[in-house]
Amino acid sequence: MSGATLTIRRPDDWHLHLRDGAMMEGVLPCSAAHFARAIIMPNLSPPVVTAHDAASYRDRILAALPKGSEFEPLMTLYLTENTDPADVKAAADSGLVKAVKLYPAGATTNSADGVRDFDRIRGVLEVMAETRLPLCVHGEVTRPEVDIFDREAVFIDEVLDPIRRRTPGLRVVMEHITTAEAVAYATDGGGDLGATITVQHLMLDRNDMLAGGIRPHFYCLPILKRGTHRPALVKAATSGNPAFFLGTDSAPHATAAKESACGCAGCFTAPVALACLAEVFDTAAALDRLEGFASKHGASFYGLPLNDAKITLRKGDPVEFPRLVQTGDGPVTVFDPGKPVHWRVAS
Ligand code: NCD
Ligand code: ZN
Repeated sequence: MSGATLTIRRPDDWHLHLRDGAMMEGVLPCSAAHFARAIIMPNLSPPVVTAHDAASYRDRILAALPKGSEFEPLMTLYLTENTDPADVKAAADSGLVKAVKLYPAGATTNSADGVRDFDRIRGVLEVMAETRLPLCVHGEVTRPEVDIFDREAVFIDEVLDPIRRRTPGLRVVMEHITTAEAVAYATDGGGDLGATITVQHLMLDRNDMLAGGIRPHFYCLPILKRGTHRPALVKAATSGNPAFFLGTDSAPHATAAKESACGCAGCFTAPVALACLAEVFDTAAALDRLEGFASKHGASFYGLPLNDAKITLRKGDPVEFPRLVQTGDGPVTVFDPGKPVHWRVAS
């Protein structure tokens, strides 16, 4: 119905890359405009490894916020093989850090300091199970012989399931899931397992990226999959199951670094994420489930209060969104799904 509006609790973004310095200053207002809180990814260069690193990164984010913004960055630590379990425990106990991020070494942007030998992080995982601090997992194996389209499903069998079995009580968020296999695993995972889903994986498949020309702004990791997986993701997101919640994985790179012979992975979705999400839920006749996915399930998983503030979305003619956001590190191309989006954030 044209002219419809939808008012929901202000959403949170449970997976966000803000970067640092001039890039952060340019992109931060886009998230702060629509979201109350976000889990801030620690894959800076160098990464956010210690509680001390997280505290100073948080200060830099708060200092860069637009005047009057109440956006709250929720900090994470980047797990390395040398991470000190006592530092993680202190960071969790103080409330500074809300999760620890596991990157398999080499899996994605700035993951070189990630984990190669999963036995070497057992001590940290045991402390996290005791303190109930969630582990956010980039779930892809990196062995070169595993096809890039299979890396998520193989990770679940070879790494994630064994880690969860030998660490009872460990709370895990499967980040940016992309496959029917991940949906099935998270659906049956019990209360200690959650999964975030991005907007691009709900809207696109690999044909959108590769058929009729290569579209570098659709290249992200985990990579867009075969079209059969997308309906499974949409079904999970719109199911009302509290295991599934929004993590945009908005990952800005300067346009020149994406439109390149070897382009960076990441879709910059922050400015359009909610509008796109409303389109997905509307198309699935599930607008009544949007608030759960975007504003409730994540907060409940992380044990945080729901936001009292509200946001209103309005439906109308297809919206023309800005194509670029200017930053001190150059322009960043805003995600454009290439199909009509009728929703916009009204207030
Ligand atoms: C992210 C980035 O650029 O930091 N890129 C991406 O394609 N999603 C890293 C990540 O979340 O994998
Ligand atoms: Zn990410």
